[in-house]
Amino acid sequence: MSKSKYDIKPAEGKLGIMLVGLGAVSTTFIAGVEMIKKGFTKPIGCQAWMGTARLGKRTDNRFVKLNELVPLAMPEDLVLTAWDIFSDNAYVAAQKAGVLTPQDLEKVKPELEKVVPIKGAFDRNYCKNLNGDHIKAGTRRELAEALREDIRTFKKTVDRVVIVWAASTEVYKKPAEIHETIANFEKALDDDSQEICPSQLYAYAALMEQVPFANGAPNLSVDIPCMVQLAKKNKVAISGKDFKTGQTLMKTIVAPGLRNRLLGIKGWFSTNILGNRDGEVLDDPESFKSKEVSKSGVLDTICSPKDFPELYGDLYHKIRINYYPPRGDEKEGWDNIDIFGWMGYPMQIKIDFLCRDSILAAPIVADLAIFSDLAQRAGFSGIQEWLSFFYKSPQTADGVYPEHDLFIQKIKFKNTLRHIAGEELITHLGLEYYQDEE
Ligand SMILES: NC(=O)c1ccc[n+]([C@@H]2O[C@H](COP(=O)([O-])OP(=O)(O)OC[C@H]3O[C@@H](n4cnc5c(N)ncnc54)[C@H](O)[C@@H]3O)[C@@H](O)[C@H]2O)c1
Repeated sequence: MSKSKYDIKPAEGKLGIMLVGLGAVSTTFIAGVEMIKKGFTKPIGCQAWMGTARLGKRTDNRFVKLNELVPLAMPEDLVLTAWDIFSDNAYVAAQKAGVLTPQDLEKVKPELEKVVPIKGAFDRNYCKNLNGDHIKAGTRRELAEALREDIRTFKKTVDRVVIVWAASTEVYKKPAEIHETIANFEKALDDDSQEICPSQLYAYAALMEQVPFANGAPNLSVDIPCMVQLAKKNKVAISGKDFKTGQTLMKTIVAPGLRNRLLGIKGWFSTNILGNRDGEVLDDPESFKSKEVSKSGVLDTICSPKDFPELYGDLYHKIRINYYPPRGDEKEGWDNIDIFGWMGYPMQIKIDFLCRDSILAAPIVADLAIFSDLAQRAGFSGIQEWLSFFYKSPQTADGVYPEHDLFIQKIKFKNTLRHIAGEELITHLGLEYYQDEE
């Protein structure tokens, strides 16, 4: 008998994942899933298919796989599709993205060729460096309705659907009055307001069709009041934003360590070179602004300068992204960290991370899709902050600051799974191992 207080629907049947964008991240994710299904590789980096959790006391020695703790969709249950503004199928798109070797792509060529993108909803004003021709025509309202129709059509072929935004970063826009309420947003749709960016059309369509939406990019899609209200009203799980990979992943690993040992930080300079399409889009200052906003909050909340002005009050944080085509998807991120310790003596840390962004992002796509589906089956709706482990700039409730520390995020993530399963939460107190019971 399940101990859970939630009526969790089983993960039976097919889980359809609709990816917005069929670029480097999406094709790397799809190829990986197909390779896993065929037994060519293991789901490295994926919590849902590799993660474990301890249950009960340390002396109980109970460790379970996460999919034994809660019912989760497995690789063979997934059906994948995508929207894009270019008509290349996933095989051609993956070749162009240049992340995976031709030998690996060959092994899953027929499966990749079957993923042919649906026409995207696009507005070049929101993504200046892209010029696709596989685009839906119509007003904002017509585009939203067409996206809803796409979702309904796909829904007929599977048992459940989730949507993950893995399309290009849109230009930075502050939320406006039209984003305040559902009524304002719907009126703006009818007025064909250019204040609505394409990602908000996908988000709206998803929520209207009661499909969970996870936002892998920094642009505001579900992170606006009207979408939070719509998610609660239609009982849909949402989360965002911006996959936590690369330099920010490193930052949220290193910074909590320094902060926890009360070492001061004077400056943190982060610069990157990358040459994929994402890098090209981010070469536009307005798209970069979205990224900068999502990346820069990290140190502020981890270090909390207001509590430790003498350690972090003067922290100078600078982030640079440079488009450099020869590097393709094989990005290089440098960090120079100026720290100080006892008696204020200075020290430096240099990180040179030769990472592969899409290799780091692909398992996050899997996890966000699978855990958003779990949240939905457990009856959770609105913002799923427990998924902040996967995000650079976690979406939180009004008045709640985002938790950026990867290790706190991890505890929150696993405790939420224990809570869903009706298992005791783990506090790491551990006094019971040393104190006599009363
Ligand atoms: N790679 C990473 O590690 C990482 C980390 C964090 C966030 N992200 C974000 O994930 C997104 C995808 O990254 P990527 O490297 O795959 O980029 P990419 O440029 O290779 O792929 C994005 C795809 O989205 C398509 N697209 C753009 N606008 C669209 C629209 N309105 N509708 C449908 N398709 C659209 C583009 O044509 C392109 O094929 C980017 O926003 C990126 O900033 C990536």
